[in-house]
Amino acid sequence: MRVLVTGQVPDAGLAVLRDAGLQLVVWDGDGAMPRADLLTACSGVSAIVSLISERIDDEVLDAAGPTLRVVANVAVGYNNIDVAACARRSVIVCNTPGVLTDATADLAMALILMVTRRLGEGERLVRSGEPWRWNMFMMLGTGLRDRRLGIVGMGQIGTALARRARAFGLSIAYSNRNAADAATVAELGAVRLGLDELLATSDIVSLHCPYTPDTHHLVSTPQLRSMRSTAYLVNTSRGPVVDEGALVEALEQREIAGAALDVFEREPEVHPGLMNRDDVVLIPHLGSATVETRNAMSLLAARNVVAVLGGQPPLTPVGA
Ligand code: GLV
Repeated sequence: MRVLVTGQVPDAGLAVLRDAGLQLVVWDGDGAMPRADLLTACSGVSAIVSLISERIDDEVLDAAGPTLRVVANVAVGYNNIDVAACARRSVIVCNTPGVLTDATADLAMALILMVTRRLGEGERLVRSGEPWRWNMFMMLGTGLRDRRLGIVGMGQIGTALARRARAFGLSIAYSNRNAADAATVAELGAVRLGLDELLATSDIVSLHCPYTPDTHHLVSTPQLRSMRSTAYLVNTSRGPVVDEGALVEALEQREIAGAALDVFEREPEVHPGLMNRDDVVLIPHLGSATVETRNAMSLLAARNVVAVLGGQPPLTPVGA
């Protein structure tokens, strides 16, 4: 059986696939696999190990044909996969939840610190070679103690961020389709609010929801206007959850104090209105980018493939 891997992934996962006797076709070019190559290479494969840069839709599934049994995304987010199209063909879709929770929550906490303490701005100043001298009023930021962190999407990553944030003295509000379990609420002292109230009352809003048609531009002009003018927006979920044009406008109008973004609406493009702003932190989609986490993601995706092709249930199917 052949497995298509649509980009370079850590060897840990590739070794598991090879040890299972699977024949690998690995795209090893720079950047995203060109669509034409993807359509050719997937023909007759039993599994696709996909990266978020590749869209797996009807066209790819048709090109793969009836041999395809599983698509294992090396990511927790799977908005690049048409899950309904896969279901129509009984193709199982898997993602990599859990293994990247700590890394992504760490990054969200780091972004909160960066944007509230103006660390990017400070680094740019030192590197610029411009003369500077310590003084009492230089680059004053905002402390975190007794401020409210509003978490949009209280899944594993949102909850892990809340734990970190508590250690910094932040109180926690969250909005989520379902209430968090009682033990988590008790541990974190978290209050559940509707999105409108969360936006209007939080000092920092951090986005941790999946990207779906329902969350497209979840944060746009009305939502930004409803935020405090002293508040910060942090996005480590998916770029299009935020209307980037509206964000630029809100920053220009000083409707919010700043933003820290790990993801972008038209990634890897960044809205030009964000590029030169000192009240914005811009990071190139590094949420899960640690050696340990990327190894674990590769391994989990591979184990999902081996399980399904071996007739076993997948470890982490989506929607389970
Ligand atoms: C990365 O963005 C992921 O969804 O894992």
